[in-house]
Amino acid sequence: MCSPFDSYLYPMAEDLQLVQGSKAEIYQSLIPQIKALIDGEPDLVANLANVTAALKEQFNWLWVGFYLVKPFGSAQESELVLGPFQGPVACTRIKKGRGVCGSAWQDAKTLIVDDVEKFPGHIACSSLSRSEIVVPIIRNEEVIGVLDVDSEALAQFDETDKKFLEEIIASLEFS
Ligand code: SME
Repeated sequence: MCSPFDSYLYPMAEDLQLVQGSKAEIYQSLIPQIKALIDGEPDLVANLANVTAALKEQFNWLWVGFYLVKPFGSAQESELVLGPFQGPVACTRIKKGRGVCGSAWQDAKTLIVDDVEKFPGHIACSSLSRSEIVVPIIRNEEVIGVLDVDSEALAQFDETDKKFLEEIIASLEFS
């Protein structure tokens, strides 16, 4: 536990206020808290870790995590590499155009998949996953990573999730 005497170092990090209500109301309560958690903290891994933890704690989805575009091999190629996440262990690397994550990267747009079994090429990191949303992180017109969320329920995600998850992604600073 953080000591109260350390409050200048550890502001509110352990006091996520969980709410009930409509999906929009939940996001409207959660997003300011996420922004407060990451505000002023320059470390990317720390911020991505707290975003995944906050989303997982509030929504209890099966899997919430980031994949980041990183170079590999000697050629000027890149692939998605697993970053901070909450949930079962997951695939470490995903190529451009592969699965839902690689497709969101290739298309540079958010993908909502109501039934993962109907998405050609879906990568099943967990057999429990039924639906998925992937939000690309775009900076300087380039995709530099994705936020991936999986649910055990079919058709869990909709335009409300897209809108608010994109807002969370927009608030992240990458340097
Ligand atoms: N299902 C994803 C792979 C990542 S895991 O779900 C964590 C995909 O098809 O890209």
